[in-house]
Amino acid sequence: MTYEEKMRRFNQDRFGIYVHFGLYSLLGRGEWTMYSERIPAAEYAKLADKFQPHANCAREWVEAAVAAGAKYMVLTTRHHEGFCLFDSAYSDYTSAKLGCKRDIVREYVDAARAAGLRVGLYYSLLDWRFPGYFEPEKYPESKAALIKQIFGQVRELMTNYGKIDILEYDGGWDAKLCKDRAQWAEFWNAVELNKMVRSLQPDIIINDRSGADEDIETPEQVVRAGVQRMTESCMCIGDSCAWGYTRFNPNWKSPEQLLQHLVMAAQLGGNYLLNIGPCPDGSIRNEELERLQAVGRWLKDNHEAIYGSESCELIGASQPGCVDLNLQGPWTRKGNIGYWCIFRWPGKTAAAVRVGVPIKKVALLATGQEYPFTWDPCDGKLTIFDLPELPPDPLASVLKVEFEDIPKRMTETDLAAWLKLD
Ligand code: GLC
Repeated sequence: MTYEEKMRRFNQDRFGIYVHFGLYSLLGRGEWTMYSERIPAAEYAKLADKFQPHANCAREWVEAAVAAGAKYMVLTTRHHEGFCLFDSAYSDYTSAKLGCKRDIVREYVDAARAAGLRVGLYYSLLDWRFPGYFEPEKYPESKAALIKQIFGQVRELMTNYGKIDILEYDGGWDAKLCKDRAQWAEFWNAVELNKMVRSLQPDIIINDRSGADEDIETPEQVVRAGVQRMTESCMCIGDSCAWGYTRFNPNWKSPEQLLQHLVMAAQLGGNYLLNIGPCPDGSIRNEELERLQAVGRWLKDNHEAIYGSESCELIGASQPGCVDLNLQGPWTRKGNIGYWCIFRWPGKTAAAVRVGVPIKKVALLATGQEYPFTWDPCDGKLTIFDLPELPPDPLASVLKVEFEDIPKRMTETDLAAWLKLD
């Protein structure tokens, strides 16, 4: 598979569900608890015996992802705490040997594949149990042991679970936060590591968090276009300060917010990875499940605007120059078709300006109902009439607009022309 084909498929999938699950889930204070509360390794490790996720947890996550309309998933196989959710010859600190004594990664991979989802694995390079991560000069042997563990475990993950579609590294930064990306890559020997990964999984997509560039950027808590590479925007479903289970999580994003992020990611030609943090027993709490289901219901009617759509440069009626979110909502595109995803319904008449290509037809995507429109070739103003007064879809209504060519934004040479004073 060529790089282009791989990326096209990734875009076709567009939407993934991220699952943060580990010993931290038992504490309910987010996945950074071991470090942020400086809990000594031996004391923290006592949690492992209590790690008893229910028998169907992986299937439950997969079902939720399918209900959300996601096409792939990414699971934390090992977070910064170092506890592995898979069996490893390089560590006894795993769910296969302690607590539930199960290979959760295997359960997840099997369930995701059975449901037709593509499989992503998250792996943290840093492991807080190794002093050689924090002070490599002082503890060179520990650093060497950490690197050995990484190479061994990444090989295991890339060998023992069949075809892996995505590898998401994390924790690539240096503990003192004073080095650049090239230095991170050198620290982890990332170029070699990824060479090994690609030899075992030739079609895999790898993110850039090891410091080596690779295929995708994975910015957090923000939707933006890729700077160098394709972007997968990773976001929490609740408060953005923690990805793992947070017992009291006061700021759940509304289905409308989640959809806006998904559509904005699509408008910019990137992907959206939405995170959930299952409860200590691996179940998904209702607050998360309901939101995923709402997104999935919307996608049933409007998927055409999302999966595999390309970036679109059209803007709406307001805020010229702001391509990420205009007043009514972003546009996505497939070939000559534009999809105007309207979150703030304008009422009976909708206007988009600077539309640089003639229009053939306007219809509501969910129903196929057509609406009359005018388009002014001089100033590019598209006006759509006789729309319902109230939003046809309470979350977001999509107008499917057929253009004569690939829709482009019109350049305004005379910024005052629209006043039509003469
Ligand atoms: C981060 C955090 C981490 C979280 C991840 C999600 O870098 O350290 O806790 O797992 O991003 O993308």
